[in-house]
Amino acid sequence: SRIAVAEQMKATGIVPVFYHADVQTCKDILKACYDGGARVFEFTNRGDFAHEVFAELVKYATKELPGMMLGVGSVIDAGTTALYLQLGANFIVSPLINAEMAKTCNRRKVAWMPGCGSVTEINYAEELGAEVVKIFPGSQVGGPSFVKAVKGPLPWSSIMPTGGVSPTQENLKEWFEAGVHCVGIGSKLFQKKEDGSFDIQKVEAKVKEAIQIVESLKK
Ligand code: 3PG
Repeated sequence: SRIAVAEQMKATGIVPVFYHADVQTCKDILKACYDGGARVFEFTNRGDFAHEVFAELVKYATKELPGMMLGVGSVIDAGTTALYLQLGANFIVSPLINAEMAKTCNRRKVAWMPGCGSVTEINYAEELGAEVVKIFPGSQVGGPSFVKAVKGPLPWSSIMPTGGVSPTQENLKEWFEAGVHCVGIGSKLFQKKEDGSFDIQKVEAKVKEAIQIVESLKK
């Protein structure tokens, strides 16, 4: 359910955000995130046939990664939303607000996380039923101080910045002290080796470390 997705996002605090055209690479990264403790994963709709890659990931996670919630990001219209819901997406993330997307998700009781950059947008997204609102691009829109200021008039808002978030003690401390619900992290979780391939062990270690940092910040 959409509540379960929001709660799971809060539980680990980290939403890995990833796209690659190669199915095996995506499976390896998804497994590394899972083994590192992530239970929510955002695959971004960023290339031709991205939906075919996602369909493979859903099959894989259903069989091998119990409890993993798979969502799709970078979705900007209702038609693409419907396609991914049909393929089994547990949640839909967008860099923007689109009311038709909200209706498509609400009808199916699937969590929808629209990209917002102002208090008016956050409020509009919540009126449209957003369980968690994404701040995008998180660092550029204003960073942790923006989140903290917004939480003044909107203390109930569940905020997820994505874009420019680092899985470091220093950066995570800033965001979580500002009151985020969770953070989306892309490029900085996915280190590559010299040969250009992803360093799967390092990815797992980074995810694990980030989740531990968030855990320690809650105490
Ligand atoms: C993206 O745009 O791919 C996501 O927002 C992730 O951004 P990041 O790589 O800066 O974490």
